[in-house]
Amino acid sequence: MKTQEEIRDDFPILKNITYLDSASTSITPKPVIDAIDDYYYNYNANSGRGAYRIAIKASNKLEDTRSKIANLINADKNEIIFTKNTTEAINMIANGFKFEKNDNIIISNVEHHSNFVPWLNLEKNSPKNIKIKIANANSEGIVENSTIEELLDENTKLVAISHVTNSIGACQDIKRISKTAHRNNSYFLLDCAQSIGHVKIDNKKINADFIASPGHKGLLGPMGTGFLYGKKEILEHVEPTNLGGGTITNLVNKEFTLEEVPYRFEGGTQNIDGIIGLGAGIDYINQIGLSNIYTHSKYLTQELYKGLSEIKNVILYGNPKNIFSIISFNIKGANPYDVAKILDETANICVRSGFHCAIPSLKHMKAKEGTIRVSFHYYNNLEDIIGLLKSVEEIANFYK
Ligand SMILES: Cc1ncc(COP(=O)(O)O)c(C=O)c1O
Repeated sequence: MKTQEEIRDDFPILKNITYLDSASTSITPKPVIDAIDDYYYNYNANSGRGAYRIAIKASNKLEDTRSKIANLINADKNEIIFTKNTTEAINMIANGFKFEKNDNIIISNVEHHSNFVPWLNLEKNSPKNIKIKIANANSEGIVENSTIEELLDENTKLVAISHVTNSIGACQDIKRISKTAHRNNSYFLLDCAQSIGHVKIDNKKINADFIASPGHKGLLGPMGTGFLYGKKEILEHVEPTNLGGGTITNLVNKEFTLEEVPYRFEGGTQNIDGIIGLGAGIDYINQIGLSNIYTHSKYLTQELYKGLSEIKNVILYGNPKNIFSIISFNIKGANPYDVAKILDETANICVRSGFHCAIPSLKHMKAKEGTIRVSFHYYNNLEDIIGLLKSVEEIANFYK
């Protein structure tokens, strides 16, 4: 197995910058870039269409990635649909699931806009009087099971919650929430945008009916990759919202027959190079090992939280016991955007600032102008944390 230093060498971009924004998107390791190059240099063909050998190879490689995703989350490969990101996966359910009149859906107020707006849009525009109920998280960003229990009723069709909130890194008890939803005969959708590739997602244990995931974050895949998992028998009752080539088996006199799940959901040419790159990203993650990644992230999270809490003027969000991989903070009197700009321009440190596409979440945390958000992956090390702390201390002294 490679050492952490050798791993860092696989990310050439780290020679120039300290990258602490993996919650937005991860940086890409060489083996992923090599896999994409290999596709373009050696078998650059469409998938699922040609009888010639390079087209068959492209199709097989795409299916390999489907199997790798299925193995990763302990699911069947026919339950994996490729998407371009997490957002598309959630919208596929919001727009394709056959909700009934007066159904309601429970989300929380600490969701990313991608697990918020598709549901609000459904409430606004569906003729079926669908209602969205919003569970309020506690002051640490945790959605307590009892809050979900209070909102559930006989019309609750779905509970949609993210595993780790992207705003402050709070980790939810998703197994418990899934169980609670199922006890009420509701479905459970898990948004694992901030946990996949950082921690084991074993769906035989979580029992989510749907999982929306990026490929470009924790899994180290390229941009424009993601997937939707759905239990096969439930996906049979979801309407595909992107029909066309590859989604039907026959078309005669205006009548068409849908392809099997998952192919009926994958209309048109797929992001083949991206999906092949994602397969290489999953291999890379598996080689490091999810438990090593988790332990490393937890260690960096604790070190950074401790260091920040020792700097006067710093406001921290969330409980260090319940957060990992993401830390949100503010410096009293400083706008988060300005802090991020200074970090970049004076120390080449890349962090996110503002509301991180989670306005209700950060308003709930009373962060009126948002926060500065630091997020890690396995390629980060203690020097990154020490460098950041030094710069934050200097900025905090300036604003004192
Ligand atoms: C919790 C959560 N859900 C959804 C998304 C949207 O992800 P994507 O950009 O892959 O659509 C994000 C992105 O940061 C996120 O953090």
